[in-house]
Amino acid sequence: MAAIIDGKAISLQMKDELKQKAAELLAKGMKVTLAVIQVGDNPASSVYVKNKKKGCEYIGIGSLSYELPEETTQEELLALIQELNGRTDVNGILVQLPLPAHIDEDTVIKAIDPRKDVDGFHPQSVGALCIGQKGFVSCTPAGIIQLLKRSGISIEGKECVVLGRSNIVGKPMSILLLRENATVTIAHSRTRNLKEVTSRADILIVAIGKPKMITKEYVKEGAVIIDVGINRDENNKLCGDVDFEDVEPVCSAITPVPGGVGPMTIAMLLHNCIESVDLQS
Ligand code: GUN
Repeated sequence: MAAIIDGKAISLQMKDELKQKAAELLAKGMKVTLAVIQVGDNPASSVYVKNKKKGCEYIGIGSLSYELPEETTQEELLALIQELNGRTDVNGILVQLPLPAHIDEDTVIKAIDPRKDVDGFHPQSVGALCIGQKGFVSCTPAGIIQLLKRSGISIEGKECVVLGRSNIVGKPMSILLLRENATVTIAHSRTRNLKEVTSRADILIVAIGKPKMITKEYVKEGAVIIDVGINRDENNKLCGDVDFEDVEPVCSAITPVPGGVGPMTIAMLLHNCIESVDLQS
């Protein structure tokens, strides 16, 4: 039977450590504050934003909330980001994605001061990650490294296959695994002989966005399975990109959905907020 990697418990452990750090900073007169911007009222985004603000409250840092109407223009959003870039009482700026179609996400991400880019999406943050320099790291992949380390799963020398090549998860994930001395393969929707490729993995990280796509035929016996997907199945129940019931009996460890990778993303965002104090000094 596989070990179930408990992201909820591990994220709570991290949040308690961060709570301590926030208190230490506060004792030195440094109040950390995150500005969260949401444009429009995408219901999934509203849930994420609420949870991010709750996380700030839990560890004892401030959050400023900007809930802007769907019709907000790109210029108005850029003006708000400029204002927040200049405010010394704001340490982190997060613009919840996706943005409405009339706003260009790349332009908005680039407008955030890289020293306040707690999502780690700015090209400067991504570049710094690639060449091993200091900077913010995208929260979901950083959270997965923590999940593995805190579950006692070693990465060094392992065959890691990342399924998915998004800017937010797949690409930074592969760089982080490389940094941990893994042998890394990035597979994607156009990969030939996908089952053969994923079956090589000691650690398989799935971020492909297809409900329950990964069945036991894709998995090597004893592999560690990290499921980044959040989907709804035919009964409207949350499920990952991995068919948990099918894969669990053949792997050595697996993350559930919900309660696996998801809670780690928020813990790493809070980690980045605390870290921002160092990057800004
Ligand atoms: N939308 C989905 N995931 C994320 C995230 O990690 N950060 C932001 N800003 N938007 C998202």
